[in-house]
Amino acid sequence: MPVISLPHDFNEEELYVDLQSMFGHSLFLKCEGFNFAGSVKLKAAIEMVEGAERAGVLKQGSVLVESSSGNLGVALSMIAASKGYQFVCVTDTRCNLATRRLMEALGSQVHVITEPTAEGGFLGARLDYVRALGASDDRYVWLNQYGNPDAWKAHYRTTAPAIARQFPGLDVLFVGAGTTGTLMGCARWFKQRRPSVRVVAVDAVGSVTFGGPPARRMIPGLGTSVRPPLLDESHVDEVVRVEEADTIRACHRLARSGFLFGGSTGTVVSGATDWLARHDTRNLTAVAIAPDLGERYLDTIYQTNWLHDLYGEDGLHTDEVTTLTRAA
Ligand SMILES: Cc1ncc(COP(=O)(O)O)c(C=O)c1O
Repeated sequence: MPVISLPHDFNEEELYVDLQSMFGHSLFLKCEGFNFAGSVKLKAAIEMVEGAERAGVLKQGSVLVESSSGNLGVALSMIAASKGYQFVCVTDTRCNLATRRLMEALGSQVHVITEPTAEGGFLGARLDYVRALGASDDRYVWLNQYGNPDAWKAHYRTTAPAIARQFPGLDVLFVGAGTTGTLMGCARWFKQRRPSVRVVAVDAVGSVTFGGPPARRMIPGLGTSVRPPLLDESHVDEVVRVEEADTIRACHRLARSGFLFGGSTGTVVSGATDWLARHDTRNLTAVAIAPDLGERYLDTIYQTNWLHDLYGEDGLHTDEVTTLTRAA
């Protein structure tokens, strides 16, 4: 019986969903959403906070500030509340309302950027605001999830070895790329310890992470409008890109089987099943990482009006999604 007194002391690391019956491919989905922050970002958050404490940068009286599309913000809100720090989260209009409310309920201040910059999009505007805040008062401590090596070290230390323990015969690992912390930690570990494992990055169409032109993206978590400083492509074997419409289709397909996952899980599952369909998968062991669960997306990905506004009444034809929209 696990008994904890700090919220970050619990994290389910051993849970996988077998997607064979849903998608027709042998694919094991590692669920990272079962902790009190509700996402994979708990790992990067605790590693970065404790790294800054050890370095003496973060101390009582410090005010944490971070740019986040939501999940890191929730994880830092939880840790800040538990450790007695103030926290300011700088996000933008794509952050789910529920996520914003969650951060505020945990005692954080949330600043929402409403205008993207011409060069750097929303992320550029968020980072400009964080830098200006830091320059205004030296109590502000910016952990900088985009460039902080502790973000990938968290996954090098925990996620990758946990997968390798459960799947000693692993052939291919699919990891979504946001800041690329999860991807870099896992890719470095497997390249060093199990070089035969193929590491496939999954990105959103419209993201500039691996090159390609920027375009509108509405689903938070994966993809960037500024190339992530943590990324070292030499550790990544392959990249697959997923259209947001396919992300949504995959999310709804999972939901229709009773598994409500977040948007980036839809992206990773869509990219992974597409890759598996193009390869000889006999005797292949494949794992994909699901960064969070779906409740925070009830007003977006799982909401009829939001889908209609984005894609029009007939824009997303699949059995799963049309059943949802007709029933509304
Ligand atoms: C829902 C979700 N999925 C995926 C990611 C990407 O993880 P990483 O930043 O480690 O690339 C994030 C990051 O914030 C996220 O919130």
